[in-house]
Amino acid sequence: MGRWATGVSVVTARAGATDFGLTVNAFLSVSLQPPLVLVSLTHDADTTPVILASGRFAVHLLAFDQRDLSERFASTAPPSEKFSGLPVHRGVSGLARPDGALATFDCRVRTSFPLTDHLLIVGEVEELETGRDATPLLFFRSAYGESDGSDRLRLPPPRSPGPPESI
Ligand SMILES: Cc1cc2nc3c(=O)[nH]c(=O)nc-3n(C[C@H](O)[C@H](O)[C@H](O)COP(=O)(O)O)c2cc1C
Repeated sequence: MGRWATGVSVVTARAGATDFGLTVNAFLSVSLQPPLVLVSLTHDADTTPVILASGRFAVHLLAFDQRDLSERFASTAPPSEKFSGLPVHRGVSGLARPDGALATFDCRVRTSFPLTDHLLIVGEVEELETGRDATPLLFFRSAYGESDGSDRLRLPPPRSPGPPESI
């Protein structure tokens, strides 16, 4: 999968007054009519049961200069630490939206499928926020890359050739 280039998103959810969130690159568009998106989340993530219990989540697409946000939300820090000092705003659903993202999809869970150690969650987009018109943060070869706004990408360098990798 390291050979599959993706964007990077942060997915947020809320339990009572507590915000949860994690970094996610297993995100895709399922359909436009109705607007459905899918995220694949490990059962082990603290955020996963919160999404199931609340029936809501929001996906925030990260810009090239939000690598620190990706690292913050990929950590196993408690939710209070992940959101500590982080500028956020909120939409109608009340879910936290970190400032500066390219776009936010505020979703209601339409259906979910447990599959081995992950949960596939399909959400119907109820509110869309178009954010900054910046270039995206990318993930490739298990490292971050950037687009520079033209037709060029700055990607992590190839690793030296070795034996075939296992999955
Ligand atoms: C670039 C990147 C992409 C990731 N994508 C996913 C993903 O698609 N699904 C997932 O379950 N975890 C993914 N992770 C790992 C989670 O962000 C990580 O397990 C996080 O600590 C979970 O936080 P939580 O336990 O507070 O919910 C990714 C991490 C990185 C750095």
